[in-house]
Amino acid sequence: MRSYSLIASAKINLYLEIIRDRPDGYHDLLMVLQSIDLADQIDLCPLGTDAIHLHCDHPEVPQDHRNLVYKAAALMAEKFPDAFAKYGGVNITIHKRIPVGAGLAGGSTNAAAVLVGLNLMWELGLNQRQLQYLGSLLGSDVPFCIAGGTMLATGRGEFLTPLPAIDNFYVVLAKYRSLSVSTAWAYQTYRHQYLRSDVLNASAIGHSKQRAYSGQIVSAITRQNEKQICQLLHNDLERVVLPKYPQVQRLQEEFQRLGCAGMMSGSGPTVFALTKSQQEAQQVLESVKRAIPDPDLDLWVSKFTRSSICVASSN
Ligand code: C5P
Repeated sequence: MRSYSLIASAKINLYLEIIRDRPDGYHDLLMVLQSIDLADQIDLCPLGTDAIHLHCDHPEVPQDHRNLVYKAAALMAEKFPDAFAKYGGVNITIHKRIPVGAGLAGGSTNAAAVLVGLNLMWELGLNQRQLQYLGSLLGSDVPFCIAGGTMLATGRGEFLTPLPAIDNFYVVLAKYRSLSVSTAWAYQTYRHQYLRSDVLNASAIGHSKQRAYSGQIVSAITRQNEKQICQLLHNDLERVVLPKYPQVQRLQEEFQRLGCAGMMSGSGPTVFALTKSQQEAQQVLESVKRAIPDPDLDLWVSKFTRSSICVASSN
């Protein structure tokens, strides 16, 4: 049986609008999601036994059943017991480069890589739609992490509509190493502060969805209008995360001061800015470093990419 090494890309949210709260505790969203080439590597090696083993060198990543990667492998074993019995368990190693608890879907993309990798290793022949369905059982961002590229996402985030690829952007990412934001906290706080008094009727929801499908950011992407894409970046969760974490707000303001479109990704606390060249991205990174000389602040330059999960090698 073969071993696989997979590349699992991070994502950023170019647009995140919260439409309404749902009885199941989740929220209906409208998002534009974009894969970037900041990526982890996931190695899958067959084990002779029926166990799932997990290793990661990052101190904040759990190496047991709490990790979404472990849950992904356990889900595959549960759904495909014959393959699990025939091929046996798996040894999974995560080489972490995507920051943890950052709003960049690091855990989701690792889980997506395990679904894709076990589909190959166990010769299941599942198609992308089937893998995305399995991903939706693990987390709202996992289906996108399987699909990758540039997507409009609705529902919890699991219903995906491909948008024309945007290839020309570089991304500067900034995150305080010691800071992470609970996604559940961000959504629940938003629900209490902004959704309770704001009872949306069906026509308002319909209008809101219509606005997204035919909306400005989608048409800016369709027309590849890069200036407009930058102007239309939006994230509703900034309304609760920025007031609680002034240092994240400060980052956002610093990007703006440098003339970049700056926005928080997902539930944060990573803030990103878009640039048109790698050189410009590097200049922005150096300027932010100079303006905020905090040893706890990590910065990266990344690039938009069309793919999310790729097989790097198999043997
Ligand atoms: O789906 P996932 O496990 O990644 O979501 C983490 C948390 O984020 C959920 O428990 C929920 O509180 C919140 N969430 C939400 N609405 C969504 C996606 C996530 O409220 N559409």
